[in-house]
Amino acid sequence: MPDDLTPADSNVIVRPARSVRGVVRIPGDKSISHRYAMLAAIAEGASRLHNFSAARDCTSTLDCVAKLGCEWRRLDDGAIEVHGVGLQLKASSQVLDCGNSGSTMRMLSGILAGQAFSSELCGDESLSLRPMARIMKPLSEMGARISSGDGGRPPLKIHGGRLQAIHYKPEVASAQVKSCVLFAGLFAKGETVVEEPLRTRDHGEIALRAFGAEVERVGNASRIAGGQQLHALEAHVPGDLSSAAFFLCAAALFPGSQITLPGILMNPTRARLLDILVQMGLKVSVAHLEEHHGELVGTIEARGAAWKGASIAGADTAALIDEIPVLAAVAPYSEGGLEVRDAKELRVKESDRIAAVAINLRKMGAVIEERPDGMRIPGGQHPHGAELDSFGDHRIAMAFAVAALRAEGETIICGADAAGVSYPRFFEELSSLTSG
Ligand code: S3P
Repeated sequence: MPDDLTPADSNVIVRPARSVRGVVRIPGDKSISHRYAMLAAIAEGASRLHNFSAARDCTSTLDCVAKLGCEWRRLDDGAIEVHGVGLQLKASSQVLDCGNSGSTMRMLSGILAGQAFSSELCGDESLSLRPMARIMKPLSEMGARISSGDGGRPPLKIHGGRLQAIHYKPEVASAQVKSCVLFAGLFAKGETVVEEPLRTRDHGEIALRAFGAEVERVGNASRIAGGQQLHALEAHVPGDLSSAAFFLCAAALFPGSQITLPGILMNPTRARLLDILVQMGLKVSVAHLEEHHGELVGTIEARGAAWKGASIAGADTAALIDEIPVLAAVAPYSEGGLEVRDAKELRVKESDRIAAVAINLRKMGAVIEERPDGMRIPGGQHPHGAELDSFGDHRIAMAFAVAALRAEGETIICGADAAGVSYPRFFEELSSLTSG
């Protein structure tokens, strides 16, 4: 790979590599950074968030809370300092632009539903196509008035006010929906319960506790009582395991590869990825396990060995939803291939990720069976380089940059700057790990 890649390059050339070696310090977890920024905004006092995600998505969250009267600044050591204003924010005179970030729109809506003013939220072209009925329904049941564009899509207008607690059973397993309702629960009269169909990531519950709220979790139900004040927090955001996934899959492609990823999030609701990678043949060890404000963190060491097949379905699909694109992109090189089921949600992410994976793999000469809620990719294939599209989706851009490392010939990733939505320095880091 060329050494002069910058995140601003829209088209990036990826050349085949022979191995992947080195140490990568992965930026802070995106899911946790969003939640810390939102809760810091409605806490009492100044919070300091170290290793806050560099993702464009998290900047969207910070920009939105700034418009709602909450000042933040970047300190000399890189940390973000957020000056919380307490539970009542100020009305924004401007539309709240969530950019590409579904997390910003969905979770912030929970907080806006409890405010004594109206807000308008919009997003970019991709976000404008994503379903919001999943948060409109519970927030309306709690007493907020919300209107949307056609088909329950952005823009959203939220007329906040007094909320009533609900016991909500979402149809889709979504951590964003769960956090949205729990955040709204802070403003509601009574105890709000979210009972999920499948266990999803629990960063919302953990972050609420870190900011001083009491949240109870029994089985798949999380409960929060309204009226609790939050207190400022100083915390270090663990490295994002979903970003680490790209380097782990890159290492898996080459027997003899070796990478070290210090300070990575090991939360059990996210770490299913490691089980699958181990099952597929990657040699993984985790050291220096610690707990930071309720989140587990550790150093991952991984070595490439055999690369076998896997099948992902049900609760595993929900647990691996952000990593399926990269697992699929490298699946043709595996011995047994990959089958993914129960993954309808992938069609309503930043792009239709099932279609995007199918189009790009076919351009690389690989065979894939595309299904309405998943895919089957045979193993033992020999994809070639091709001109591929990111479809404006960060995870597709990065997944295919990884797949291209073992393809025959050069690959061009068009729209590679999409990677900045979660990982602005991704291409530089990948370049520093690979040797041609
Ligand atoms: C996220 C949850 C997932 C994930 C997204 C981040 C979160 O979405 O795909 O990237 O931070 O809660 P859903 O909760 O909608 O499945």
